[in-house]
Amino acid sequence: MKLLKNSMKNIVKHNYLISKKDRQKLNNQNSFLIWFTGLSGSGKSTIANALEYKLYSEGYKTYALDGDNIRKGINNDLTFKPEDRTENIRRIAEVANLMVDAGLIVLAAFVSPYKKDRKNIENIVGRNNFVEIFINTSIEECEKRDVKGLYKKARAGEILNFTGINAPYEAPENPDIEIITDNKTVEESVNEIYKTIKLKLKDD
Ligand code: ADX
Repeated sequence: MKLLKNSMKNIVKHNYLISKKDRQKLNNQNSFLIWFTGLSGSGKSTIANALEYKLYSEGYKTYALDGDNIRKGINNDLTFKPEDRTENIRRIAEVANLMVDAGLIVLAAFVSPYKKDRKNIENIVGRNNFVEIFINTSIEECEKRDVKGLYKKARAGEILNFTGINAPYEAPENPDIEIITDNKTVEESVNEIYKTIKLKLKDD
């Protein structure tokens, strides 16, 4: 740790000519992170995907991060034990922060079950660059859908630390947006989110 701190001392920030503001201006948009949290199978990725499609269709420059492109790539050394989930979320937040700096609207869909980890995302990207969306689908509904068959495996004891079954999910108390998916179509959920973030989309 001491060695790490010493080596950090020798990292001197270089001043680049092009700033985040310049990139946002060129892209004609604001850039920020839209973070989806919720149980596995709650609909996070589906809603993020549909929202990205809408934004893209309107000419916004976006990028979506989810388990498929993160846990199979940069984070393929991490498991689902609590420390690894914390590290998973920290790295994703740092990657998202770079993308926000690059001028993109980033959509990230991760279970992110721990409050302290979600707070850390906010610290990394900054409060103004962060929209937290809680995709609130009950465990009963997620388990009924069981799109990936993982709940069944978790119940059978084949997966340890499965969120909602034998690992906790700490629901956000004050999310920026809460989507209760029961009896709501994906389109309705997307429209609800869009209405809330609309003013944030253009550079301020
Ligand atoms: S997080 O907790 O670290 O944020 P992340 O969103 O990256 O999780 O990955 C969750 C996805 O991995 C789930 O949607 C599910 O498909 C799969 N998965 C595999 N094992 C587990 C587990 N033990 N707990 C939760 N999800 C798991």
